[in-house]
Amino acid sequence: MTAVLLRCAAPGDVAVAARALVVTGLLEARGRSGTAALGLSGGSTPRALYERMALEGDPARLTGVHLFFGDERCVPPDHADSNARMAHLALTRHFPPDMVHRLRGEAADIDVEARRASAELQTCLGDRGLDVLLLGLGDDAHTASLFPGSGALTPSGERVVAVHEGTPRHRRLTVTPAEIARAAHVVVLVTGASKAAVLRRALADPVDIQAMPVQLALRLHPRCVVVCDAAAAP
Ligand code: 6PG
Repeated sequence: MTAVLLRCAAPGDVAVAARALVVTGLLEARGRSGTAALGLSGGSTPRALYERMALEGDPARLTGVHLFFGDERCVPPDHADSNARMAHLALTRHFPPDMVHRLRGEAADIDVEARRASAELQTCLGDRGLDVLLLGLGDDAHTASLFPGSGALTPSGERVVAVHEGTPRHRRLTVTPAEIARAAHVVVLVTGASKAAVLRRALADPVDIQAMPVQLALRLHPRCVVVCDAAAAP
């Protein structure tokens, strides 16, 4: 099983193509159950998608849609590194606050916060997964905040876990591999020449989740689409 690869001519086309996948998936889910849930990716790549969604009026189109986060850095929500801050400025400020479910990176005890966030997903979705989960790709083949060799890759029964390994910069909150697997659809956004080699390896090399966590989506998820620009395309 390998993801579908959607090659776009230019970085700007990635946001257009990804938006079509995201909005279609959410509207189909809402049509079935009256509500839907989107998992937002962090980093810098998705900003253009979020801005495009705001520009196209999607917040008004996507009433009843809950917004969650695939991961968060352990910083306050107004910190320059905060994924919630990036998403808020680009998109989520246009949604009702009670539909935006931050991972509270500022929490004093991130294990307690991980359990709270897991419970929030369970309360909102029951045993269902996110209808659409957006993910990115790090140049070390991480996705969300699942880094190579991380203890967070070990099955835990949780939906969100805390990542304590590495430098303070790497203290994170992240969805687990099981939460990625539970998502109905996964859309991975990859742009730029710096990601070309790791994307090619993740798509072509034998599956090794410890070495390439992004393969949880690219090689193990049955409905994963990679949207990339020409610079990142294999
Ligand atoms: C994060 C992200 C992370 C990101 C990749 C790619 O919190 O950093 O969730 O998984 O998607 O590192 O980041 P860029 O989009 O900035 O290249």
